Amino acid sequence: MKKNSNILANYLLHGGDYNPEQWLDYPEILQKDLVLMKQARTNTFSVGIFAWAQLEPEEGVFDFSWMDKIMNDIYQNGGRVILATPSGARPAWLSKKYPEVLRVSNERVQQLHGGRHNHCFTSLIYRQKVQIINRKLTLRYKDHPALLMWHVSNEYGGECHCDQCQDAFRRWLKKKYQTLTTLNHEWWGPFWSHQFTEWSQIQSPSVIGENSIHGLNLDWKRFVTSQTIDFYQQELIPLRELTPHIPVTTNFMSSTVDLLPFKSLDYSQFAKHVDILSWDCYPTWHNDWESLADTAMKVGFINDLYRSLKGQSFLILECTPSVVNVRPINRAKRPGVHLLSSVQFLAHGSDSIMYFQWRKSRGSFEKFHGAVIDHDGSSNNRVFQEVTQVGQVLEQLSDIVGTMPNSDVAILYDWENNWAINDAQGFGKETKFYPQTLQQHYQVFWNQDISVDVITKEQNFSKYKLLVVPMLYLVSEQTIDRLRAYVEQGGVLVMTYLSGIVNENDLTYLNGWPQLLQKVFGINVLEIDSYYPSDRNEVRYGDQNYEVKDYASVINVKEANVEGVYQADFYAKTAAITSHSYGKGKAYYVGARLNEQFHEVFYQKIMADLQISSNAAIKHEKGVSVQVRLSDTHSYWFVMNFTEKPQVIRVNCEVKDILSGEWIKGEVRLERYGFKIFVKKVG
Ligand code: GAL
Repeated sequence: MKKNSNILANYLLHGGDYNPEQWLDYPEILQKDLVLMKQARTNTFSVGIFAWAQLEPEEGVFDFSWMDKIMNDIYQNGGRVILATPSGARPAWLSKKYPEVLRVSNERVQQLHGGRHNHCFTSLIYRQKVQIINRKLTLRYKDHPALLMWHVSNEYGGECHCDQCQDAFRRWLKKKYQTLTTLNHEWWGPFWSHQFTEWSQIQSPSVIGENSIHGLNLDWKRFVTSQTIDFYQQELIPLRELTPHIPVTTNFMSSTVDLLPFKSLDYSQFAKHVDILSWDCYPTWHNDWESLADTAMKVGFINDLYRSLKGQSFLILECTPSVVNVRPINRAKRPGVHLLSSVQFLAHGSDSIMYFQWRKSRGSFEKFHGAVIDHDGSSNNRVFQEVTQVGQVLEQLSDIVGTMPNSDVAILYDWENNWAINDAQGFGKETKFYPQTLQQHYQVFWNQDISVDVITKEQNFSKYKLLVVPMLYLVSEQTIDRLRAYVEQGGVLVMTYLSGIVNENDLTYLNGWPQLLQKVFGINVLEIDSYYPSDRNEVRYGDQNYEVKDYASVINVKEANVEGVYQADFYAKTAAITSHSYGKGKAYYVGARLNEQFHEVFYQKIMADLQISSNAAIKHEKGVSVQVRLSDTHSYWFVMNFTEKPQVIRVNCEVKDILSGEWIKGEVRLERYGFKIFVKKVG
């Protein structure tokens, strides 16, 4: 494994969002922060994220004095700064004087000033004002030794439907389609008289207007991604010009429940424009609907996706050391879980543990969100001490910086497919569960400590022995051909029900399932049946029956082997699961949604055929997870107990426990929520 070419530092970053602008009237607190930062073994702070009003209190009047002091103090204290551009929230004077910067909603209502993350991405004025403050910041701190990286804005998201955005959307469409004739064809214009005869007739989708043209809905989402990236890129102009040597990131996010990929921006596109991928991860630990291990599996999945976006180690820029404040119930991490969950981020490829936030606000919206320093200001509480423990562990792990997991298995996730499949009127409206289905396939590998890359459609497939592609409803001919080539050259491909239905503009394929897929899989997919929860069917696979849920494809077998057969309904005794040798590889089609027991048996057989196994030689019970990072010379094994009781694991070769320095082989006890990190020479 090559080392990450983008490493920021030769140590793991530990720290978080720091908002000194909230405490300028409390100099003693700012002073105390410096002492506590050292005590908590932190080294890096994201500063200035929402500080625009303190940096430019009036239009054209700038005050960097407080920021100068913070930059100097942190540096003298041994720390570094990830400096933010402040575009995530505006000063009131800006909205008042230039109301065009305020976002217009999908219902065409212009928002009032307030909140955050709600500016128009197209507004020229907003872009100019952001560039001015970004240039000032860059000029001021470009040579400051504390400056480690740029944190551009904060968690970009949302959309604006103002007139400027409508115009920009039409320009984007013209560039894509050139003529209205082409656009009308690709959007299937004659349906409900939806042809356009002038570009100006086209409007962004709206709940009070047009929302039934799927091609339009899809293009609008693509445009929002493209316009957000465009806004981001104009933020970068002064940064790239004046600090070309300083890496740039912007923090990505996920859904708050179940850690599904963030929906409204296509991060596979955005990732191309960041130097280092960073993101904010807030798992719902200790919820009342799943085990800690199930939550941990979802943490694994999303981190494996975000890591794979750039194929480099990444940064956790925000997580909470204790609670969040946005859920219906905001449960505290139980003792030990902060450390365990931090180790899990490292295990999946993070080079940092950073928090939202360093110090809890005294007032306003986030005053009860967890922080390293609570309102008691003390270092004697549980949270502060657990953070300090994380710091101590990170200090012993600097060798892992830039190392990466090495995966033989990939699962494919596609943002555009998620948009299109959710927009599709048909199938089971409430049971599509596209990303959740990926998590279910992922779970089998996670349970067996098999490293997985969760990749996107433009990435290289050929380095994987096994590529799993569930529910790829929207797929272009180009991607189909890449999948074909992958199998032809020896790859093993698993595809499922609801794949290969529409092309990149959401137009269905004609003349049956796409011809190339028919060739690769040796089947034609004739129908898709959607089930009520009470509907029952089973698939016979091997010597067992497995229950079908939600979806069953009716398959016409041409050249494939039948591996599983439906037990009931008008397609009883017909193929549900097939396999087909094509070129040097093999293509499996799983026509029905089946359960975890099926996935286990099914993938077990494929993994045995392909000799895919864990990179670590450890035996353990379910709920313990082992993930491995590799350097050119060493293999680092992260063994984590996500069960509610102590566990005994068996290590089958001699390894060194990094934290205790002991050499170990044989049985090792893990406490409840305990972990071990082992190292072993490779080669
Ligand atoms: C993040 C955001 C932070 C803070 C945090 C609370 O999404 O970037 O500023 O609001 O959530 O969990």
